[in-house]
Amino acid sequence: MTNFNRSTLPDTVRSNGATPNPWWANAVVYQIYPRSFQDSNGDGIGDLKGITSRLDYLADLGVDVLWLSPVYRSPQDDNGYDISDYQDIDPLFGTLEDMDELLAEAHKRGLRIVMDLVVNHTSDEHAWFQASRDKNDPHADWYWWRPAKPGHEPGTPGAEPNQWGSYFGGSAWEYDPKRGEYFFHQYSKKQPDLNWENPEVRKAVYKMMNWWMDRGIDGFRMDVITQISKTVDKNGRLPGEDGSEIADLPVGEEGYSSPFPFCSDGPRIDEFLAEMRREVFEGREGYMNVGEAPGITPARNEHVTDPANKELDMLFLFDHVGIDQEGSKWNTVPFEVKNLRDRMTEQQEAVRKAGWASLFFCNHDQPRVVSRWGNDSDRDSRELSAKAFGMVLHMHRGTPYIYEGEELGMTNAHFTKLEQYRDLEALNGYRQRVEEAKCQSSESMMAALALIGRDNARTPMQWDASKYAGFTAPDAPVEPWISVNPNHVEINAAEEFDDPDSVYTFYKKLIAMRHNSATISTGEWHLLAADSDQVYAFTRTNGDDTILVVVNLTDRSAALPSDVAELLSDGVSEPQVLLSTYDAMRSVKSIARGELARWEGVVIQL
Ligand code: GLC
Ligand code: CA
Repeated sequence: MTNFNRSTLPDTVRSNGATPNPWWANAVVYQIYPRSFQDSNGDGIGDLKGITSRLDYLADLGVDVLWLSPVYRSPQDDNGYDISDYQDIDPLFGTLEDMDELLAEAHKRGLRIVMDLVVNHTSDEHAWFQASRDKNDPHADWYWWRPAKPGHEPGTPGAEPNQWGSYFGGSAWEYDPKRGEYFFHQYSKKQPDLNWENPEVRKAVYKMMNWWMDRGIDGFRMDVITQISKTVDKNGRLPGEDGSEIADLPVGEEGYSSPFPFCSDGPRIDEFLAEMRREVFEGREGYMNVGEAPGITPARNEHVTDPANKELDMLFLFDHVGIDQEGSKWNTVPFEVKNLRDRMTEQQEAVRKAGWASLFFCNHDQPRVVSRWGNDSDRDSRELSAKAFGMVLHMHRGTPYIYEGEELGMTNAHFTKLEQYRDLEALNGYRQRVEEAKCQSSESMMAALALIGRDNARTPMQWDASKYAGFTAPDAPVEPWISVNPNHVEINAAEEFDDPDSVYTFYKKLIAMRHNSATISTGEWHLLAADSDQVYAFTRTNGDDTILVVVNLTDRSAALPSDVAELLSDGVSEPQVLLSTYDAMRSVKSIARGELARWEGVVIQL
């Protein structure tokens, strides 16, 4: 147990005068995918001791909070998002003592730790689920068990309770011969959905959350938390059960209809979140609780994150990272600046008066932004576009999230063979679409995987140019669980650390700017150049302090938008450049010429 008093952490808010906002209003969060961050014992898998050994790097970068993807005991079907024991650490990652040590060492450096928590579902190997397979056990009603469709032999094709498909491929129903019934799983069949309608389930979850908070962690990132409340009728039946309520729902190319409309932002979500807040967080201070919220609208974000409603502190919205997919995740369409800006604008506008925004382009489920929307084809383009997207994101109002390696400009994996992938979503998706439903060609699916597959974010962290990038020892007996990107010889922390022009140094500046400026952390946000198809521009204002952010998000030069030019047109003084993706002098000249170079971004004090 750590004896840690949260009030001794630096009060980041007080430092820039933005009170009475909560401490996280000017914090920057760094996400660690433990499996891929640092291996300490040569088994090819990152672990807790590895993270502890890298804390000085994170403190140097200047982030405030570390979010750890799940490290609980798990069969690792979905890399830990399938938890079989919430109150233990998976031996792959270490022990509870290692976790306590990481907490203590992080706290010493002023870093808070937020744990990922998956309570929409458990692993099928969790004791609750195993008990639930017996109809007479007290846990019988802890999951969504349903009989076969009337008139069908249980376990035979087409006998599933309804035609819902899992997001990870195949039916969303799995037959359990022991119980003689089906259980519902939005994700893999090893991730059965918990039945949040059952108060006993909720009680057990809150008890476990309190156990972790008492142990000294600083909050949670709640996995797909807005999917815990399902739409049921007055008899507790899901749509389509025993009848035709969803018979008319469109069946997708893969032959299933999506449970998403009935599981996302469901009827009791506000009630459950407020109850969780009361039961776990009331009376605690210095924590933060952020929810993953696919399908939540910006307006609903305002409601859930409005402190007056006592639900969650922040949500992750996904509309802005869905702009390059249409219909299916695997049907990709080109990036357009306008689409990104429109989605981000909605998100910013919705929390103008109440609520709060989280800001991210990257996480463990998203490809690397520099490869996805930037240009990673040569060093110059890569560094410039990484900085341009970093600048756009970090100058918004909200709490920014950095995903491990983003601060180095790490790129997609550029895998060319299916065998290189590890992610069940990628492997199931390929099997189902290319081999079973035959709705996508192998070439097109491989191209989609290379562009937006989740493994792109999961290759090992690139610490140095050595054989395994410093992720594991060069003479480690076991290869890393997923291949190291060969470009680690050029893109790595050791190379970038002391380089004043590196992406790493640029991110350090972005973080420091937020800490030191109430205008950046909490100031008002106003869009400019709303019609530009190349430039993303806005101002941030706090009292009489205003900064201008203008970024060319394309690979070709762009005219300075007229409303931006007007703001800068006093013509007497030279613009005061606070940060440029090139260098300040060059950007002063660009502005004078009325033209931004490719990926040129600049923050100007007005
Ligand atoms: C969330 C996680 C993702 C996981 C899924 C199921 O979206 O971020 O990695 O696969 O939930 O738990
Ligand atoms: Ca290890």
